[in-house]
Amino acid sequence: MISANNVTLRFGKKALFEDVNIKFTEGNCYGLIGANGAGKSTFLKILSGELETTNGDISITPGQRMSVLEQDHFKYDSYSVMDTVILGNKRLYEIMKEKDAIYAKEDFSD
Ligand SMILES: Nc1ncnc2c1ncn2[C@@H]1O[C@H](COP(=O)(O)OP(=O)(O)OP(=O)(O)O)[C@@H](O)[C@H]1O
Ligand SMILES: [Mg+2]
Repeated sequence: MISANNVTLRFGKKALFEDVNIKFTEGNCYGLIGANGAGKSTFLKILSGELETTNGDISITPGQRMSVLEQDHFKYDSYSVMDTVILGNKRLYEIMKEKDAIYAKEDFSD
């Protein structure tokens, strides 16, 4: 579970979020919708820890982690769909590439 607890974010005097409380629970699929500039990407940056809140905090169930892909339409053009998804978790991607390199060696058996 990921929860936002009394999350407030201000840029100067402008408050983008004020006392946001929400829980994302296991087994559900969530969509974050809103007009351009409403704050969707900023909220995801807060959830992932990329951006610090002005007040409040984010908590994630111990032992769980979050994987994130940047909102960049062209960044992953040269990757397969599978690679793109796994790139959301950099460590996992590195391990997968290491494994592929080992498997590609001709003189290696199972
Ligand atoms: N570092 C910053 N300083 C000041 N204002 C910022 C900063 N980062 C984002 N903003 C403002 O916060 C608002 C939310 O931006 P954000 O990119 O989160 O919107 P969005 O909902 O993801 O938009 P889009 O649908 O275009 O992707 C915008 O008005 C943006 O200009
Ligand atoms: Mg956005």
